[in-house]
Amino acid sequence: MLNLIIFGSPGAGKGTQAVLIAKKYNLTHLSSGEILRRELNNIEFGKKIRKYQDAGKLVPDSLVIKMVEEEINKKISGDGFVFDGYPRNLKQAKALDKFFQDQETSINLVLNLGLSEREAVRRIMIRSKTSERSDDNLKTMENRFSAYRTQTTPLLKYYRQQKKVINLDGRLTITAISQQIKKILALYKKTN
Ligand code: AP5
Ligand code: MG
Repeated sequence: MLNLIIFGSPGAGKGTQAVLIAKKYNLTHLSSGEILRRELNNIEFGKKIRKYQDAGKLVPDSLVIKMVEEEINKKISGDGFVFDGYPRNLKQAKALDKFFQDQETSINLVLNLGLSEREAVRRIMIRSKTSERSDDNLKTMENRFSAYRTQTTPLLKYYRQQKKVINLDGRLTITAISQQIKKILALYKKTN
């Protein structure tokens, strides 16, 4: 199995690259944001999820971890996963490690897309013209970036200690980034 995390701020290009990698390597693209958006019409959780997403805050771990684990279980016999927007805090990262340990697998690499907040906001504002996402607005964005800075970036230290982080320049074109990822993965496969 090959299990990757595409790491980065809101608008850094996680979803864009995750789709490309998943296709190229036959991996399952697992976006926690998408999973949660799919559940918006769920009678039991929908309202709750919307409240957090619309505020740009992280949805409680008790909901997210369970939903993601259910999705992993559906594709556990496949070639691996590309996680996009998950894990988002230390609790989720540890839960994922534990879950994978029980399956005798693990996260192989964390691809960290670096992009300034200014450029990320610019990209999200362009997307907001056509996206149906209720969180693509300036007010919500402040909270999304704040959650990223305070709750998500500490994960880099966690994965650096495991020597899994590779930094990528998110300012490059979509194609250039994707080419770099291909090279990194080719090298990784050769040496592991
Ligand atoms: P989520 O759906 O994960 O959103 P996000 O992290 O805010 O990130 P985005 O999806 O906005 O950006 P992206 O990095 O995927 O960039 P994209 O490829 O689209 O989370 C949304 C909410 O759900 C959270 O706020 C939270 O409430 C909840 N949530 C989700 N996961 C959670 C979790 N694990 N725990 C708790 N709560 C959770 O690119 C952006 C734009 O730029 C696109 O238009 C794209 O076409 C363009 N673009 C991409 N790459 C390039 C490039 N290289 N050059 C130029 N343009 C580019
Ligand atoms: Mg996304």
